[in-house]
Order: sequence, then C-alpha cells, then structure tokens
Amino acid sequence: MAKPVTRFVCSACGNVTQKWAGRCEACGEWNSIAEEAPLSQGPGSKGLGAAKGRRMGLSDLRSDEPPPPRRSSGMGELDRVLGGGLVPASATLVGGDPGIGKSTLLLQAAASFARAGARVIYVSGEEATAQVRLRARRLGLGDSAVQLAAETNLRDILTTLDAEAPDLVIVDSIQTMWLDTVDSAPGSVSQVRAAAHELVTFAKRRGVAVMLVGHVTKEGQIAGPRVVEHMVDTVLYFEGERGHQFRILRSVKNRFGPADEIGVFEMTGAGLAEVPNPSALFLSDRDTPAPGSVVFAGIEGTRPVLVEFQALVAPSSLSQPRRAVVGWDGARLSMILAVLEARAGIGFQGLDVYLNVAGGMRITEPAADLAVAAALLSAREDAALPADTVVFGELSLSGALRPVTQAENRLKEALKLGFSAAILPKGCNIPADGGVSVRSMDTLTLFVGEVFGAG
Ligand code: TYD
Ligand code: MG
Repeated sequence: MAKPVTRFVCSACGNVTQKWAGRCEACGEWNSIAEEAPLSQGPGSKGLGAAKGRRMGLSDLRSDEPPPPRRSSGMGELDRVLGGGLVPASATLVGGDPGIGKSTLLLQAAASFARAGARVIYVSGEEATAQVRLRARRLGLGDSAVQLAAETNLRDILTTLDAEAPDLVIVDSIQTMWLDTVDSAPGSVSQVRAAAHELVTFAKRRGVAVMLVGHVTKEGQIAGPRVVEHMVDTVLYFEGERGHQFRILRSVKNRFGPADEIGVFEMTGAGLAEVPNPSALFLSDRDTPAPGSVVFAGIEGTRPVLVEFQALVAPSSLSQPRRAVVGWDGARLSMILAVLEARAGIGFQGLDVYLNVAGGMRITEPAADLAVAAALLSAREDAALPADTVVFGELSLSGALRPVTQAENRLKEALKLGFSAAILPKGCNIPADGGVSVRSMDTLTLFVGEVFGAG
C-alpha cells in the first residue's frame, strides 16, 4: 500500500504543495504554509480502485414539498442579514476582529432564539460557563433558556449534540475547537478545517442550524484556511471602528438570501441595540453645513442608507503629500483625484487629502464616486454644499458621470430624512416628481460648475 503523503497547506489561500516553503507561491503570503496530516481514510487516498461504493438515492428536482420554514431570531437586523431568518440544517460563520462584539451578539441572538421557542446550545471554547453567565446577566439575559457548555473537544461536543438534538448550536470560536484524530494544535489550519467540516456535516445530517464564530486576521480574513468560508452556507462579518458605537453585520456570502445585506447595531452598556433606521443615526451629529462635508445617498444590500463623507484638503509639507482614507477604498480615492486633475483641471499637488466616512461606516459602492468628488472639491475650495442636498453617481475615467441603480429609493430615503435637493448623473431612473429637486448632468466639468455654483 502506498505510504500516505504529507501535504503542506497555505493558511491564507488554501493552496496545497508537496514541499514546505517560506512563501506561498500561489498568493505570495509569507510564513503561511503549514504541514497537514495526510488524508488516511476514505477511498480518495488510495485511489478508487475496484471496490464499489454504495448506490446513492436520487430524488426529483420537481417537488411539492414546501421549503423548511425559517426561524426568526426576534432581532430584525439579524434576520435581515440572514435573508429572513435562520434556515435549519445550515452552517453560518460569523467573523470579526477580537473584541468587536461577536460573543455579545451571539449570546443575545441565542437568548432571542430561545425566547422564540428554539432549543439553543451555546458552546464556548474561550470562556468558562461562569463568565458567559456573568455576561448574560450584564446583558439582562440572566433568565434565558439557553444551555451552556465550556468545551473545546469536538468529539465530546458532537456526542452531546447528537444526543440533545437542539435547534441551534453556537460554537465560539472555531479556532479553539480540536479533534483528537487530527495531529496538530488547536487553531492550526488542519484543526480549523477539520472542526468546521465536522460541524457542517453535523448540521446537514441532523437538520440543526450551526453558527460558528471565527476570528479575523489583520488582513481581514478568517484565520485558518479560506476553505472554511467555502464550507459554510453563510458568511457574516461583524465590523466597525473601535472608537465608534456602531457595529455592522454584513453578509458576504449567503446561499439562502442576498449577499451584501447589512444589519446595523449600536453598542450600549447593556449590549447591542438594533438600529432599524441607520440613516438618521449616521447623520444625527451633523451640524451646520461645513466645507468638505457631503451627504451620500447610498444603498447597502436592499436598504437605502444616507452617510456623510468628510474631506479635508490642506497644504502639505511632505514631498509625497498624504492621502489618508477611513471607510472608503484608498485606490478609488487616487482614481478620483486623478480624474479631477485630468478631466477638470483641478489638481491636488502639494496638498494633503484626508477622507472619512462619518459614523464608522465602510462604503464600497462606486455610486459614492460623485459624493467623494464633491467632498474633495468642497474642501479644496472651502465652500460648503447646501445642507439640504444629497449626492450620488459613478465617475468614469473619461470624466463622464454614469447613472446608478435604485435612484428612486435613494431619493425617497433622502426625502424621508428632510433633504430636498439632489445632484446626480443624467440617465438615472427617477420619477417625474419625487418631491426632491433634482439637478442632473452627464460630465464632470458640468458637475464641477454645479458644485461651485452652489457654494
Ligand atoms: P465581545 O463580545 O467579547 O467581543 P468578541 O467576542 O468579538 O471578542 O465584546 C468585547 C467587549 O466589549 C466586552 O468587554 C463587552 C464589550 N461590549 C459592550 O460593553 N457593549 C456591547 O454592546 C458590546 C457588543 C460589547
Ligand atoms: Mg468572544
């Protein structure tokens, strides 16, 4: 029989090699390659050979069977991100930086599911049960019907879960779990992957919803192989700026609902409070119109959200002026600065540029281009935009303004929050009279005139 071959796996990208190397040749990451125990069981390791497998059952795609009902968490923001509630027999990964509030969120969710009648087991590999209880009491959930365990041995956990057959299991965190069949330390690539595999298989086999907590590395990846993200049905990220009270739960993958949906929470002394109308909160500390401040009417998932972009432009003493961004893509900022210079003749040489999204929100929509350009222009010219105006639209390298989707919803949200004017690209699909006075244009040059004219 052939000797099982040891494999080496990159913990950043999951690339498999036969030899160890200091740097992964697939993704270029340093010190990310770890030895992995050989696959000893299963027909795969020996080749399929002549031995026959079991014949599997087939079933029709056509079926009158209704889909299994989703379980509402009782937390509207969490349900929204899950795509309308938790699906039975599903695996969900909740990732986030240490200390961002994952354990708090999931303990609150556990209590909320339990209140709605679900049997919930919360397994902590990081805290003792007394600690979890203390936290629950602090959150006012001391009398909740959630079952607790502090355990990291997956064999014991799975035996217990098999016997208890709960509706929902929360495992905090996947990096602390270990299997005695895998010969490496907890938190290593092989352990994380094997533990996730066991838990996902359990979820499918027993029809139990499993939620896994995962720590995220500096680069924003779930520590351990990316493969865990592929194994689960849903990947949620819990994010936010440390100094801010907002926390955003974002779905980056969802087999049962739309990806890119967000749920917004506010951190309080008594835990996370839901924020069903985030626009009002993101804008609440906006005072009189300031130069460099522009309100962007964005869409996050299926929901319109208004956020404020703030720019500061100041003479630089550096030979390479500073370009600092928080909450928006740095490369995209460089692009917009270049387009402003090349297509509208407005240069930023010798000027430091700072761009910030208020409230700790992170914006990824290209529709924010125009709002960023407006903020930069307004800061550079020290002229504020009227306080009642929102801006959105995409900017192309040629200096053309491109229409964006869901313009009508953006305007509706703006109107709801008391804005009466909007600047946007020509060609957006908007109603004849939406209650907002619209100024639309199709080139950057016209837009620049419009912004300055308004200032
Ligand atoms: P925790 O849930 O332990 O973070 P994670 O599991 O992601 O590492 O939360 C970190 C700390 O923040 C903890 O001391 C409790 C505190 N906290 C609050 O006081 N209020 C809140 O609403 C949240 C989410 C956390
Ligand atoms: Mg935790």
